[in-house]
Order: sequence, then C-alpha cells, then structure tokens
Amino acid sequence: MSELNNIALKIIDNGKGILAADESTGTMTKRLEGVKVESNSENRLKFRHTLFSSKSMKACIGGVILYDETIKQKFSSKKIPEIISNAGAVPGIKVDTGAKVLANSPKEKITEGLDGLRDRLKDYYKLGARFAKWRGVYIISNSCPSKIAISTNAHALARYSALVQEAGMVPIVEPEILMDGDHSSEICLAKTSEVIKKCFEELILLKVDLKGVILKPNMILPGTKSDQKISSDKIAELTLKCLMENVPSEVPGIAFLSGGQTEIEATKNLDTINKKNKSNFIMSFSYGRALQQSALKYWSKNLDDIEGTQKIFNHRANMCSLASQGKWSEQVEKN
Ligand code: G3H
Repeated sequence: MSELNNIALKIIDNGKGILAADESTGTMTKRLEGVKVESNSENRLKFRHTLFSSKSMKACIGGVILYDETIKQKFSSKKIPEIISNAGAVPGIKVDTGAKVLANSPKEKITEGLDGLRDRLKDYYKLGARFAKWRGVYIISNSCPSKIAISTNAHALARYSALVQEAGMVPIVEPEILMDGDHSSEICLAKTSEVIKKCFEELILLKVDLKGVILKPNMILPGTKSDQKISSDKIAELTLKCLMENVPSEVPGIAFLSGGQTEIEATKNLDTINKKNKSNFIMSFSYGRALQQSALKYWSKNLDDIEGTQKIFNHRANMCSLASQGKWSEQVEKN
C-alpha cells in the first residue's frame, strides 16, 4: 500500500473524519462577527485551539484542515500542526486562493491558486501538513454549471492534485455544488454526477494516484428554495447512486462537506448513507459549520469557557463519528 493511501486511511478510517477549520480570514470574520466576537488573530486562534485540544480529537478526528494563518501559529509556544499531530490527527492545509469570476461565464467561478503552488506545498510540508484541500464551486441553474465551469474547475483540481501528490501529500478533491436555488434533488443528482465524472477524467489524464485521493463532495439535496420535501433515505439513495456511478473504485474514501445543512441534518444524512452503503468506499465527514456552529455560539458568550465549549464540540464530533459508521440515532443524539 502506498504511503499516500496510508495517510488517506489514517484521516477517514475507523470512525474518524475531518474537522474543516480552514475558513479564510474573510469567512472566519463573518462567522465571528455573526456571534458578535471581534475577529482578530488572537480570537481566531483561541477558538480553533479550543477545538484542537478537545478530548474527542483522538477518537473522532483523523485530519484537520488549516488556513495559512493557523498553520503558522503557536499556542503556549507549541506549534499548531504539532498540537494536531499529538492529538493523533493529520494536519492539512487549504491551498487554493479562492474562487474568482469565470471569464466568458461571469455568473460562475473558477478557483485560483496554481501559480507558485509547488513552492508553497514544499513550505507547508515542512510545517507538518500531510494533506491539502482545494475547493471548486459550482452553481445550479438552467444553464449552469456550464461546460466551461465543469471543465476548467476539473482541470484545476487535477493539476492541484498532481502537485500535492508530488509533494508527498494527499489531495482532498472538493467539487462543491451549492445548495442555493430552486432545483430538485434529481437535477442536483444529474449535475453533481456530471461534475464528479469530469473531475475523475481529468485526474486520470494527469496520472493522479487515485488510491491517494479523498473526494469531498456535496450530498444530493434539493435546492434551498425548492418546495421538494425529501427524506434522509432518499438523500442517501441518490447520493450513493451518484458516487457509485462516478467515483472510480480505487478511491479509498469520501468525506462529505456539510454545505449549509444543520448539524443534525448533516449527521443524520451521513448516518443513513452509511447504513445503506454496500460499497468499499469509506463514507465520512469533512465538516466545517456542522462541527463548529453550536460550539462557536456557546463560546461567543464567554471566550474563557474552554471546558464548556469543548463539551459541545466533543458531542458533535462523537455524533459525526457514529454517523460515519452508521451507528448514530436520535436517541444517542439526545444522551
Ligand atoms: O470547503 C468547505 C469546508 O471545508 C466545509 O465547510 O462543512 O461548512 O460546508 P462546510
């Protein structure tokens, strides 16, 4: 088994998943100001360190995605990547530089960050990162995602993945189809399938070792403005159909993004997916909001209540870990 495959398994196997704490400073500022906390580097570190030093890290979190600011920070003279490794998780790093307006299809976005990436990856490896993340973002409308968005983002994801593997790290391939819009789950299935299929065509073309890749997709859901009511069973069924048909079997695992689902929705849907999963793919989580939301809200009331904040995060991480094994229930959620 390749070294990259071992890293991928360490991140998402055995009931573990990913804590996505890689919000850019702009996004983290929105999250902090949303709970009336000043966004400065000290507060961003304080909240994130509270999560990284939680008890649930050892059993539930196999990888943490960091932002450039955090991977270079220290807490009580200890380096953040070291704190994460000591907790048994793999430090990871977001390496894209954000989604920009796509030329000739201005409603859509293309993710940037390839220039100079080889050198940045070398630096991140030295800082302790062993996996990386790049997010391509797509919208659904009658004409979107367009062929231009599908092919340019897939190409960028593949070029990024090849460079990340060259640097000895596992690429997280994240093509996120946003939940915004009034589309049905069937449309989400069709469009997500087209996007994922194209991503793997490009990854294969660029000779990326698929055993050393983790896919981070959206679940198949109706748009947030759609009237369609859909059960967790149906979400799981459509999501599994999409992945079975479009992800090559060499890929060791899938770590879903939460994408605006509530904490409970993201947990329940992951659990149902795992209860129904008959494939060899590991199906885990790479959640940002669905792991942090309640903890952040609680913490904002008293920035020094580390223990109380960790208690909330530990519960969420435990619930997600159970869901990644198909062992979650509404009963355990309440206990
Ligand atoms: O790129 C997206 C994040 O890493 C996951 O965030 O779970 O809040 O969608 P989310």
